[in-house]
Amino acid sequence: MLNIAVLVSGGGTNLQALIDAQGKTIKSGRIKVVISNKSDAYALVRAKNAGIDTEVIEEKGESFEKALTEKLEKHGVDIIVLAGFMKILSGSFTSRYANRIINVHPSLIPSFCGKGAYGLKVHEMALEYGVKVTGATVHFVNEIPDGGSIIMQKAVEIEEGDTPEILQRRVMEQAEWKILPEATELVCQKWSK
Ligand code: GAR
Repeated sequence: MLNIAVLVSGGGTNLQALIDAQGKTIKSGRIKVVISNKSDAYALVRAKNAGIDTEVIEEKGESFEKALTEKLEKHGVDIIVLAGFMKILSGSFTSRYANRIINVHPSLIPSFCGKGAYGLKVHEMALEYGVKVTGATVHFVNEIPDGGSIIMQKAVEIEEGDTPEILQRRVMEQAEWKILPEATELVCQKWSK
């Protein structure tokens, strides 16, 4: 059983999907700790409700990754899942955890991704461009924002009258909450061998 850390910044619906998938889709790992860079993130409440340890790291700049490394070591973490984590990790950090950090992004990469494309903004960009299909991507995290190799993608149709909020919800329900647990299990299996 591998130890998973889930890094969050906000509401944590993807964290909830991971919690609900434990013992079902996710069989080769368990969520050991949830780490937030925001003390008021609702994701922390979801973790506590599920009896999972939480850590908050509010340090800025280089001190953030130093504190993060300490927490990961303290909890014996093997795999890191970024689930609505709104901070970019440095190349020196990501290279130490090569192929052990994954992220969920709410578009079909390479569309609508990279620095500045996060959360609701991604769906605003998709609607503004006028694409008819969008979706979600789970990928490995390296030094390039949203640039690591792709593990899983799922397409979602855009419908007449969509607002960014409506589209965000559909992409979560039809894609993110499914592929994030599936990809987490795949990566845990890969490192279990
Ligand atoms: C999700 O849509 C996630 O894909 C996105 O933020 C939302 C977080 O929601 N992440 C990014 O944009 C990262 N670049 P959640 O807190 O309810 O899981």
